[in-house]
Amino acid sequence: MIKKIKYLPLLTLLASCQSAEKVKLEQYYIGGKEIFEKNCANCHQKDGKGLQNLYPPIAGSDYLDDKSKVITAIKYGLVGELKVNGKTYNQPMPANTHLQNLDIAEVVTYIYAEWRNETAVTSVEEVEKALKNK
Ligand code: HEC
Repeated sequence: MIKKIKYLPLLTLLASCQSAEKVKLEQYYIGGKEIFEKNCANCHQKDGKGLQNLYPPIAGSDYLDDKSKVITAIKYGLVGELKVNGKTYNQPMPANTHLQNLDIAEVVTYIYAEWRNETAVTSVEEVEKALKNK
């Protein structure tokens, strides 16, 4: 017991380093879920499965292969034909110009954690970069 206590400060330090990233992921996930349910779930549904031929799924979507395309789609919306998993959709998606880069980072983090099992946070810098390179 006494021996263990000797290492406690080091262990606590290590644990807190790891959990800083985890805490951030949790914060982004929770914030992102709220943003998704408020701004996206009307069309894409809470479970991300989309709605018939009108709204494509986010869950299992091959469109998620390119994260920067997802970021610009959220910010500026989409028009014209779009293929998701081989199926063609053609309804406009409205822009979300009211969402700040942090909001977009959070909702993208949520989407990739929920439907791609990604454990990394999508940072505000990543969002800025994607929007700049559009
Ligand atoms: C009014 C309905 C509507 C809302 C609200 C909406 N979308 Fe969409 N979304 C669409 C439609 C329709 C498309 C397909 C666009 C096309 O056919 O060009 C689409 C396409 C997408 C795509 C690319 C295709 C796919 O399914 O992977 C992503 C990613 C996406 N939306 C994410 C979001 C996110 C995140 C939000 C909320 C911030 C959101 N959408 C809000 C209707 C909507």
